[in-house]
Amino acid sequence: MTAPAGLPAGQEAARRRTFAVISHPDAGKSTLTEALALHARVINEAGAIHGKAGRKSTVSDWMDIEKARGISISSAALQFSYGDAVINLVDTPGHADFSEDTYRVLAAVDSAVMLVDAAKGMEPQTLKLFEVCRHRGIPVLTVINKWDRPGKDALELMDEVQERTGLQPTPLTWPVGYAGDFRGVLDRRTGEFVKFTRTAGGATVAPEQHLTAEQAEASEGDAWRTAVEESELLEATGQTHDQQGFLEGKTTPVLFGSAVLNFGVRQLLDTLLELAPPPGPRPDVDGEPRALEKPFSAFVFKVQAGMDSAHRDRLAFVRVCSGVFERGSVVTHSATGKPFATKYAQQVFGRERSTVDLAYPGDVVGLVNASSLRVGDSLYVEDPVTFPPIPSFAPEHFAVVRAEDSGRYKQFRRGVEQLEQEGVVQVLRSNLRGDQAPVLAAVGPMQFEVATHRMANEFNAPVRMDRLEYTLARQTDREWAKVLDRESGVEVLERGDGALLALFAGTWRLNRVLRDHPEAVLEPLVAAADTGT
Ligand code: G4P
Repeated sequence: MTAPAGLPAGQEAARRRTFAVISHPDAGKSTLTEALALHARVINEAGAIHGKAGRKSTVSDWMDIEKARGISISSAALQFSYGDAVINLVDTPGHADFSEDTYRVLAAVDSAVMLVDAAKGMEPQTLKLFEVCRHRGIPVLTVINKWDRPGKDALELMDEVQERTGLQPTPLTWPVGYAGDFRGVLDRRTGEFVKFTRTAGGATVAPEQHLTAEQAEASEGDAWRTAVEESELLEATGQTHDQQGFLEGKTTPVLFGSAVLNFGVRQLLDTLLELAPPPGPRPDVDGEPRALEKPFSAFVFKVQAGMDSAHRDRLAFVRVCSGVFERGSVVTHSATGKPFATKYAQQVFGRERSTVDLAYPGDVVGLVNASSLRVGDSLYVEDPVTFPPIPSFAPEHFAVVRAEDSGRYKQFRRGVEQLEQEGVVQVLRSNLRGDQAPVLAAVGPMQFEVATHRMANEFNAPVRMDRLEYTLARQTDREWAKVLDRESGVEVLERGDGALLALFAGTWRLNRVLRDHPEAVLEPLVAAADTGT
């Protein structure tokens, strides 16, 4: 679906909301995505979007590993209209091992929806993602999910959000009935009761009945009174919506719902429209904002190959920052200054692809056969611009990779290069190890699994991975590299972007080196919770 042509870029931007849903695995992200799509009438029946094990269709599990594990690794973007608005939902991989991927996706959104399982509260990945959003200055809306089944106390959950994230939760709705006895929500701004009606299997949009406070009291009795009292308590402690605080990442509006029963989903869409920021002028590498009305500009936040096994193509996903994208136009690739023809531009959501002819700020476009484009690269028309690079994460897992069959060295090399460009893994090299046995570095070990799988299936170069004992990396300079390389339990390698990484087999090794060489250049790398740029 593409927006109708005509409106200037600024006006098109104003009616757009580009966001990602982030959560700890199993909190209900896929379910919520399905429910959102259902509300947008993209599909007629929930359950047809995501590739979770056992589900009907598998739009985004294009890889066998995803199928086998029931996880989705590949990101995709779903665009749909909601009233006059255009919603861009950028999907993120759920598994913590792919947090680097999630991080890149977060560079492309204007807000995030954090999904929390009502029974589990703040989980490790939830906290990590909250932190990433905080550092990136991304406003976060929180949805407490699964209220239809037993879970924690609502006030307790709010305390947990506050204590563990430092963000002030400001509930927009408040549950009527405890977790497991979900009656509906109190809309704290109107004082109305939004009554929840159970529908069969959650396959249709749940009907929402709006009742006045008096009607609610008559119908729900104590459960309503408790909700009102708790809401007043929240007001007394200043937990009411504060738009400035939300945009500055100090507060997080909270909604309660049940994704599987499609309750709270419409409220979420309405809230996004009302409160979440539309695409704004994006700062370039010098901090100068690129006005929305300037000629087309965009940056690559994800590169993915092999999404379609029949075509073996390679897609670069870009987020439009300014102007109008017109398919067929020739844009300039900022890193090389070379022209790039955008003949094939697609919108991709899992396996479904459609051609994009026009796109506006906030939209995501998949450029086909974009072999020269790398994550972080900028594209523009007429008025040059370079957006800040997207930093890579500090790797914590390392493995030497070798071709099983030395006769397939050419394929091996091409595969390793490709995976490096896509950011599937980081590739570290040294003269000592040579090009035939580079070191792969990852944030999570499952990245190695993906690399192994793709080397064999896509590049026809089965590989052997030998894990190394290193667990942490620091960036150093040429001078110190020589000194550090002589230490035991330390090795210095060069990453594709030219950074020299000193790898250490454990913190005590690092501490020992720091003790012996207090003046050594050993910069911590960008961690999950740091933007770096
Ligand atoms: P994820 O993408 O965040 O990993 O989570 P996913 O949507 O796959 O949801 C994880 C499990 O939680 C699923 O159950 C899903 O049905 C369930 N779930 C999601 N939202 C809700 C909710 O609002 N209420 C309740 N009660 N359950 C919810 P599953 O048993 O793992 O899979 P399935 O066989 O039900 O699909």
